[in-house]
Amino acid sequence: MKVIFFILLFMLAPLQMTSARLLCPNVPHVSMPVVCSNACGTKFLYDHCIDAMRQGGIDMSPSHTEETTVYAILAANQTLDSYDDTLLALSFQLQHNKSLSYAEGEAYMGCMDDYDEAYNILSAILHSCLNNCYFPKNVSMYLSGVTSLENCRDRMLAPWMKAPLLYPKVERDRNKVLMAYLLGKLLIGL
Ligand SMILES: *[C@@H]1O[C@H](CO)[C@@H](O)[C@H](O)[C@H]1NC(C)=O
Ligand SMILES: *[C@@H]1O[C@H](CO)[C@@H](O)[C@H](O)[C@H]1NC(C)=O
Ligand SMILES: *[C@@H]1O[C@H](CO)[C@@H](O)[C@H](O)[C@H]1NC(C)=O
Repeated sequence: MKVIFFILLFMLAPLQMTSARLLCPNVPHVSMPVVCSNACGTKFLYDHCIDAMRQGGIDMSPSHTEETTVYAILAANQTLDSYDDTLLALSFQLQHNKSLSYAEGEAYMGCMDDYDEAYNILSAILHSCLNNCYFPKNVSMYLSGVTSLENCRDRMLAPWMKAPLLYPKVERDRNKVLMAYLLGKLLIGL
């Protein structure tokens, strides 16, 4: 019995590899332009979506389709990688920039907390939910990540910040998590 089981596993392994991108049952397969237009209500967001997906190596042609989950996973993954980049820049400022004022130091530390929170939430969505074909009905998880980044953005724009050095990164990350949310939202109810 065991032997048969192992032989079966062996035979199934290559099959699974060819369908590596087929992740979850009942999830529609759509092209990149379609998923981006379904997710995004404005041209700004649509263009941003296309750029992000293209950067992630997804074939742009209307005849090429992917399971919707693939797009949501890609957007969450890109967002987390981008958070990592900003966290490095934040810790560089805190550890090496001797000319930070006290208030600036407080702002950067506040942002570290905002990012930790945003990172943990999105990482849980990616690893516990999306990767397991579990689609939470409650999207406020995504939105609380957006709120954390907006808190950090406000800290960066405070009048006591001599230079809004990290503002562009925070704004970029906010747009990325918004994209992850918009694509993730398409999976609700599946
Ligand atoms: C995103 O995906 C890349 C490539 O698959 C991987 O190396 C990286 O660790 C992922 N990032 C996260 C935060 O899961
Ligand atoms: C959704 O989750 C948020 C926090 O993650 C919680 O405050 C809220 O009550 C939840 N809403 C529902 C309908 O479960
Ligand atoms: C250090 O902080 C000051 C004050 O915000 C800023 O003007 C300067 O560009 C920072 N230096 C570096 C290397 O980031």
